[in-house]
Amino acid sequence: MINNTSLAKIAYHTIQQGKGLAGYAHKELSTKLMELLAPEALSEKFQIDKKLFKEVRQSMSELEKIDWKEAEEGLYPKRQLFDFPFLHLLVNYPLLWLDMPSTWERRKNRKTRELPNNISQKDYPNYYLQNFHHQTDGYLSEHSANLYDIQVEILFNGTADAMRRRIISPLKSGLEDLREKDCNKLKVLDVATGTGRTLQQIRSALKDIELYGLDLSSAYLKKASHHLSNREGELVQLVQGNAENMPFKKNNFDALTCVFLLHELPRNARQNVLNECFRITRPGGTLILADSIQISDSPQFSEIMKNFYKIFHEPFYYDYINDDINYKLENAGFQEIKAESFFMTRVWKATKPK
Ligand SMILES: C[S@@+](CC[C@H](N)C(=O)[O-])C[C@H]1O[C@@H](n2cnc3c(N)ncnc32)[C@H](O)[C@@H]1O
Repeated sequence: MINNTSLAKIAYHTIQQGKGLAGYAHKELSTKLMELLAPEALSEKFQIDKKLFKEVRQSMSELEKIDWKEAEEGLYPKRQLFDFPFLHLLVNYPLLWLDMPSTWERRKNRKTRELPNNISQKDYPNYYLQNFHHQTDGYLSEHSANLYDIQVEILFNGTADAMRRRIISPLKSGLEDLREKDCNKLKVLDVATGTGRTLQQIRSALKDIELYGLDLSSAYLKKASHHLSNREGELVQLVQGNAENMPFKKNNFDALTCVFLLHELPRNARQNVLNECFRITRPGGTLILADSIQISDSPQFSEIMKNFYKIFHEPFYYDYINDDINYKLENAGFQEIKAESFFMTRVWKATKPK
């Protein structure tokens, strides 16, 4: 007899497969269209061979298994596995197609600094003022914020949230000790929170904490605020700021998370952000990082990583995949550094000594 748990498990895997197929179909279709309408925008074609394809499938299926297992163990509610903004994605999906010609144009002419006229450029670091992934307006408009979640889902074939959720287990274990000693509410900050997907995962997994999110883009923070206020859970405080110089006191937070930021930073800014994370984490507190896998931990996927920075405008990705993040964490002052990879994401846990 099939019980509710087995049904939910089947539903979860079926939805994941559906998202994977949808992502794959979108990429195939959009590439074909580009070949037809804007062949000059194409870079050399990347063919994934059978062996690599098998490894990718295997790694994706391991990610799904751990995602399900940790939900069963109660690390986060099972409903979180089904919390996917279908309606938002459906409404905004046509915009992605309408946006394609301008993306091709930027790829073809290697234009990487086409940003909205109404922004004050002096308010942002120079490295940020770019069309990351060739996206229209960079990170600096509502239009870009509307398309971001769909683009990430397509890029990762529907596994983006499953990869983000890998921060929950180390975050919870990092907070456990502190919770016993501290009767105040624990404070957690998500650095470079974007449209707030990670904040949403944390909020549903951890009750009774004060949750904060910081990002440089006010348009993305507005989107995060919209998504978060439409769901149950406590208020989240959103702050606009540069992660290299955050507007918080020393030792202010019990834990920090930071997902998919490091690969978008030049090397010195990467170290500055980790130093700043160290400053605002309290002694005994934890930093959890999640970002792309790197050549040293996942050499079997190095072709995929190389292809990624060739196709998308990711100016600092090559440097990132060869960087030593453990060294940078130690350099900032963190200790007890552990790291593990899940499909396309590597997760680091580091502690500020007491
Ligand atoms: C790839 S997105 C990741 C967003 C989110 N963490 C997620 O999981 O989808 C990178 C985010 O970092 C933000 N960002 C980039 N440089 C930053 C900086 N120096 N300070 C704060 N935020 C920054 C961008 O605005 C963008 O929202």
